[in-house]
Formats: sequence, structure tokens, C-alpha cells
Amino acid sequence: MKLFITGGAGFIGSNHIRLLLASDPDVEIVNFDALTYAGNLENLRDIAEDPRYRFVRGNITNASEVLGSLEEGVDAIVNFAAESHVDRSIESAAEFVLTNVAGTQVLLDAARMRKVPRFVHVSTDEVMGSLDDGGFFTEDSPLAPNSPYAASKAAAEHLVRAAMKTHGLDVVITRCSNNYGPYQFPEKLIPLVIANAMEGKIVPVYGDGLQVRDWIYVDDHCRAVDAVMRKAATGSVYCIGARSERANLEVIRTILDAVGAPHSLITYVSDRPGHDRRYAIDPVRVESEVGWSPQVTFEEGIAKTVAWYRDSAEWIAHARSGEYREFYEKNLAWRETMKS
Ligand code: NAD
Ligand code: DAU
Repeated sequence: MKLFITGGAGFIGSNHIRLLLASDPDVEIVNFDALTYAGNLENLRDIAEDPRYRFVRGNITNASEVLGSLEEGVDAIVNFAAESHVDRSIESAAEFVLTNVAGTQVLLDAARMRKVPRFVHVSTDEVMGSLDDGGFFTEDSPLAPNSPYAASKAAAEHLVRAAMKTHGLDVVITRCSNNYGPYQFPEKLIPLVIANAMEGKIVPVYGDGLQVRDWIYVDDHCRAVDAVMRKAATGSVYCIGARSERANLEVIRTILDAVGAPHSLITYVSDRPGHDRRYAIDPVRVESEVGWSPQVTFEEGIAKTVAWYRDSAEWIAHARSGEYREFYEKNLAWRETMKS
């Protein structure tokens, strides 16, 4: 199977590529990524020389870069590329509209031109807004995004659906809850808390800290995306979650205990504007129709994640300093030398 994976140098994309190479001997992967601040080739160091894998630096908003790398014969595009951090979208939404909306349309057009038989669009539960009055998100929940990030992801979903209805493109959409695990950039809650706790730095809690997220270990999300890619009917939308709701304060205290850091690091700060109160997924449809179910409990996942960050001091230091970007430049220079 030949896959064109976008955003594969980010958190979920890099875990996805590693998982596929380990589980499918016949897979061939092109990882197409612009290497924004969130793209880090150090995430893929261990598999960079695998003959089934190739990295291309390119931007999904640039049609000629996409078409230049997307060969006929690709079996599926898996679109992870996005601006993904809610707080950044509140500061400035323009990049989110460009990449998440315009970039998705460029990919859809390219998929049609190259006759790619399947387009997997990785969306998010945030497109469905906030569950303030109880209940669960299902595939039938209305789209009601509250942040510029969520709105851009919702807009992208509409374009994906329109490409199917108007042009007959074979598309599937996944909407997953909050991921955590190795290689997550330390601006998101869980890696931020782990990294700060290990250094004895304060842990910022937005508002009252009682907002609820539904946590899933990244490999479980990746296995779901893979199963949906291989088995789902055209036009399906699947909500993916691990039935693991936790209030932020509970998550933070669990991590502080796992790291052995004092709860006194918890520091209440101003709330996020438009902060969604609760997300929770009912994953029954993906479980029954696709045959996927999560394998990692929250307790196991947190233990694995804390252990990984403990063993990855250099990765954290590079991510925080921006030094990982030098790895790309050095890597390029090395490849050029090898070629000549
Ligand atoms: P991330 O920010 O860690 O990685 C995004 C990747 O996309 C980076 O490698 C970046 O360089 C690349 N990218 C950004 N703009 C690009 C562009 N214009 N062209 C090419 N590449 C570009 O994000 P993540 O947390 O790994 O999320 C991946 C996808 O999964 C996103 O679409 C996100 O919306 C979705 N998602 C994330 C979560 C979560 O909890 N992190 C949950 C559900 C869905
Ligand atoms: O639900 C899926 C979404 O999960 C993905 O689509 C997004 O890409 C991903 O970033 C994530 O969005 P959240 O906004 O839920 O994740 P974040 O890690 O930024 O925040 C999780 C919760 O923790 C949220 O309620 C805000 C809070 N928070 C976050 C940070 C960074 C804090 O209290 N303090 C912090 O310092």
C-alpha cells in the first residue's frame, strides 16, 4: 500500500508513521510536511533510513509542491497536516484558515487530479463544540465550533464532504478526542505539565481547572485512523475516543504524582477565551462497524508517556529551544553529501 501522509513530522503523524512501518511490511510512505514550529524530524530519527519511508518538505497550501510529490498509484492520502493549537488560533487565526481550510482544498483537488482512491481526513471532536449539558458526541452531533482552530477544522470537513458529493471523491473523516503520548510538543497540556514538573516549574491551570477532556493514547488513535482507512465505507465519519474523561486538575495531579513533583506547582491563571467546558466521545459506531477499540488505559498511557519524557531530556530541550530545526538542515546537508 502506498500512502501520502501529510503532517507526518508532527505529534500524531510521526507516531502514525512509526506504527505503520512496524505493523505493515508492505507499506510505502511519503511524509509531506512543511516543518512548521510543530514539525520535528527528530520525531522520526529512528525510522528515517527505512527504505519504505521518504520525507518531502512541502506545504499543503502550495498546489505545485503537492502535485510534484503526489505520484499516480498512491492508494490513499492521510491528512494530518494542520495548525493544531487552540491558544495559537486565539492569538492569530490566519495560519489556521490557510493551512486547515485552503490546504485541505489543495489536497482534495490534487487527490482528484491524481485519481487517489481514498482520502482520509483527520478531524477533531472540537468541531462539535462543548458538551455543557451532559451527553456525548456522536457522528450525528451538529457541528458547533467555538475556537478559530475548531472552526477551521469544521470548514475543512465541509470541503471534504463537498468533494465527495460534487466530484465523487472517496473520502472518510475521523473526529478524535484529546491525544497524549511521546513526541507531543510541550505547548499542549500533558507534555507541558510533565516537562514543567520535571524542572520544578509552575503548572498553569486555565480558569477553575474543572474543564473535562476525553483522553486517548496516541497509538490507539493511530490504530483507529488505519482501521478506518482500510475498512470504512465511502463518506463515513467516525468519532474516536477511549471513554476516559478527566477534569484537567485530575490529569495534572496524576502527572505531578507520577513525576514526584509537589502539587504546589499548580498555579491558576486567566481562562482561555471561549474555553470549551467538556468533550466526551461515544465511540460505539467505530467499535461496532470498524472493529477498533482502544488498547491502552489512561493509567498505562500516562505511565508510558511520563517514562518517555523522562528518557528524552534532549528532545524536550531541543523542542523548547527550537534547536530541532537545526536537525533538518544538518540532515539535508548530510543527504546532499551522500548523493554527490
Ligand atoms: P501537530 O501540530 O503536532 O503537527 C502538525 C504537523 O503538520 C506538523 O508536522 C507541521 O509541520 C505540519 N504542517 C502544518 N502546516 C502545514 C502545511 N501548511 N503544510 C504541510 N505541513 C504542515 O499536530 P497533531 O497534534 O499531531 O495533530 C495532527 C492532526 O490531528 C491535526 O489535523 C489535528 O487537528 C488532529 N487532531 C489532533 C488531536 C490532538 O489531541 N493533538 C486530536 C484530534 C485530532
Ligand atoms: O479534542 C481534540 C483537540 O485536543 C485537538 O483537536 C487539538 O489539536 C488539541 O490541541 C487538543 O485541544 P485542547 O485545547 O483540548 O488541548 P490543550 O492541551 O491545549 O488543553 C487541554 C485542556 O487543558 C484545555 O481545557 C485547556 C487546558 N490547559 C491547557 C494548557 C496548555 C490548561 O489549563 N493549561 C495549559 O497550560
